[in-house]
Amino acid sequence: MNNEIISLEDITQFQSPTEEFNPYVWYKHKLQHEPISYNEATDTWNAFRYQDVKRVLSDYEHFSNVRTRTTISVGADNDEGKHMGKFNLMTDPPEHRKSRSLLAAAFTPRSLKLWEPRIQEIVSELIQEIKEAEQIDVVKDFASALPTIVISDLLGVPSEDRLLFQKWVYDLFLPMPKENTENVQEIKRQAAKAYYSYLFPHIVQKRANPSDDIISDLIQAEVDGERLSDDDIVRTTMFILGAGIETTSHLLANTFYSFLYDNSQIYGEVRANRELLPNTVEEMLRYRFNIAKMDRTVKQDNNLLGVELKKGDVVVAWMSAANMDEDVFDNPFTLDIHRPNNKQHLTFGNGPHFCLGAPLARLEANMGIGMFMDTFSRIEPVPGFTLADNLTPSAAGQMLSSLPVKVYR
Ligand code: HEM
Repeated sequence: MNNEIISLEDITQFQSPTEEFNPYVWYKHKLQHEPISYNEATDTWNAFRYQDVKRVLSDYEHFSNVRTRTTISVGADNDEGKHMGKFNLMTDPPEHRKSRSLLAAAFTPRSLKLWEPRIQEIVSELIQEIKEAEQIDVVKDFASALPTIVISDLLGVPSEDRLLFQKWVYDLFLPMPKENTENVQEIKRQAAKAYYSYLFPHIVQKRANPSDDIISDLIQAEVDGERLSDDDIVRTTMFILGAGIETTSHLLANTFYSFLYDNSQIYGEVRANRELLPNTVEEMLRYRFNIAKMDRTVKQDNNLLGVELKKGDVVVAWMSAANMDEDVFDNPFTLDIHRPNNKQHLTFGNGPHFCLGAPLARLEANMGIGMFMDTFSRIEPVPGFTLADNLTPSAAGQMLSSLPVKVYR
């Protein structure tokens, strides 16, 4: 991580974590009044409208994924935490194709089919553990546990080490604050070091005894005669699988938040008619994945967004704002699980970098929420809960650190 980090706080200027968790007023203002705007404090352009965001994400001839300045603060500045080795996704086509194809070997529909029963078993175990409780913390007990255990299992990490793994991933994905950067850097360095020394021997061992898991798939993957080294695989998993944990936890936690506080009818409605579940998950990705954004660097001068962009300019594409564009979504600021086109959301990106883990995230969410509903007939908020006391900063924006829920069988 050698790039200069751009502070998102300087762009959004949210007054509180709660406002960041519910950024709808800001998005509305930007969409209506400043759909493409320059931010002086960070020297960035910011795009909010659907078509502009889509273009920035997908038009790699003009907007490059190679950058020197970025809003992404993942990884660490020591050797272990530096970027992904020789296979790097922070590139553009055609170079990007090779790295993407190597990684895609681990995310084929066949792999997903093989993983399905394992994911089902993990969900079942988690639910078994909370079955007797009357009140749970749905973040700790479910939303953050499920993606961590799934990824650890798919990597072949022994169950007793899962929490260590979760902590390292959390630290590596800590956002860079404006102050105390050295403290956070040091936490990230330690996490990168620990992760690297933990996983490397594991990969060496897997090479000798491959099985049905992500690391074995990555070991065997070959594109144009090139393969991933053990070092490449540790670095790759550190970035990519980590991205899969925080994001999926965020999706699950926010979905439960929505069931409790945005619209308390949804849980019962979907429980009674499971065909609504996939669309509900898509609506949560559209409406409740509150702060998806990604940056690109202008590759050649252009005015494709209606302003003069110069080579080297940074453009931040605000996907969560684009998901609220009324040119694409009717009543965009309303949560509507029946919305016919909510799958058009840009939360998983668009174009050549479209999220490789989207099918896995969708599977975890549908299976996790569906099986939760099989066991618990009703859920209710716990009185006294305050959002402000239960948020924590993360790479995905403000995340729920806990969410107490009363559960009824
Ligand atoms: C709700 C869950 C998730 C969300 C919202 C999400 C979001 C995204 C987004 C927006 C991108 C595009 C980045 C860009 O355009 O530069 C992306 C890329 C990616 N995601 Fe996800 N992701 C999720 C889950 C996962 C999971 C579970 C995995 C894997 C375990 C994963 C692996 C990847 C990879 C490998 C890429 C890079 C693809 C490339 O650059 O070619 N993601 N994700």
